[in-house]
Amino acid sequence: MAYKIAVLPGDGTGPEVLREGLKVLDAAAKVYHFQYETVTYDLGGERFLRTGEVLPPSVLGELRTVDAIYLGAIGHPKVAPGILERGLLLTLRFELEQYINLRPVKLFPGVECPIKGKEPKDIDFVVVRENNEGLYTGAGGVLRKGTAEEVATQISVNTRAGVERCLRYAFEYTRRRGRKRVVRVESADLVSVADGPAGQPVEFAHRDRGKMLGTPVKKDAGGVDFEVRGFLTMCGKTNVLTFEQDLWWRAFHEVGAADFPEIFRDYAHVDATCMWFVKNPEFFDVIVTNNMFGDIITDLGAMIQGGLGVAAGGNINPDGVSMFEPMGGSAPKYTGKNAINPIAAIGAAGMMLDTLGECDAAAAVEAAIAATTPKMKSMAAGRMGYSTTEVGDLVAAAIR
Ligand code: IPM
Ligand code: MN
Repeated sequence: MAYKIAVLPGDGTGPEVLREGLKVLDAAAKVYHFQYETVTYDLGGERFLRTGEVLPPSVLGELRTVDAIYLGAIGHPKVAPGILERGLLLTLRFELEQYINLRPVKLFPGVECPIKGKEPKDIDFVVVRENNEGLYTGAGGVLRKGTAEEVATQISVNTRAGVERCLRYAFEYTRRRGRKRVVRVESADLVSVADGPAGQPVEFAHRDRGKMLGTPVKKDAGGVDFEVRGFLTMCGKTNVLTFEQDLWWRAFHEVGAADFPEIFRDYAHVDATCMWFVKNPEFFDVIVTNNMFGDIITDLGAMIQGGLGVAAGGNINPDGVSMFEPMGGSAPKYTGKNAINPIAAIGAAGMMLDTLGECDAAAAVEAAIAATTPKMKSMAAGRMGYSTTEVGDLVAAAIR
């Protein structure tokens, strides 16, 4: 069966980077023997300026029937902010129920990191951002506009069902990543530890997080070191957003204790998360967070992995149509210059393969990127030492 992929090149440098992503997809299809066909849609700023259309209902209907969507970039200097973002990007995320925004933060070899002394082994985590709720729903409004008594509200919408499905995805993802690590639980936080054969996981109860499973590897008066199978950080703001974060906190620990006890449930406030991204990014494995916090921390994440030229993301509906995109914008300044970095778009194509179930091909794309980045002078547009098409050629040639 051939996968049907909708290609939305979009604005600015979007078409240039997608061309390279499709080149790599082609190379992967030859080696890994899968078939796909593409259908291209000219959505974006140009079409809007020409016809007034952002996302015609018939196109949305067609997009509901494809296996995946591959998006370049949207944003046009002649179109007011918000029209394309809300009308196209957010509408697709909401209409197709892409409730996860998956953003790996990975420093590839040879990529310059702005944090002194950090290497690829130190920066390798994934952010699972809720993608359908929170401050992005558009709930709220304005009263008495333009007067001195003007009131503006923007409501963060958090449903138990919406939060829970996001958390479940994050736990599953952490389980699939399968990264073991040793976590210390201080005596003051440790309510109980069950007995069990040495070297086997036992149940322990954490003071405010409930039950988890871990293999005790060291005990002393101060606490116990447990080996756990996955480390999931909920990034929130429980100290201020007491309504929504209370829902998140309870759902996090209830779902985790019931169905994913072997994964350690960590918590960090969003401001502290930003601090740790810079101070010790090696701390993180998988992070789960709401829509707005996820938007903000993943831009910081993109910077520590070498910039927007490398950062890829997926808008995922695990039971439906997912959409993959480089995180960078349309970069009007570089349009048509064959100078923009296509690595992020190629990485997004790799994530698309993973979601389609072509996991070996996806791993091959990632390996081919890792084989290419050391050859590049920089990840910045115009300074790569190669053109956009040459970088695409290098990655395609490295697929095996
Ligand atoms: C992103 C972008 C979008 C967002 C904008 C363009 C609406 O910043 O994908 O992170 O805020 O989600
Ligand atoms: Mn963003």
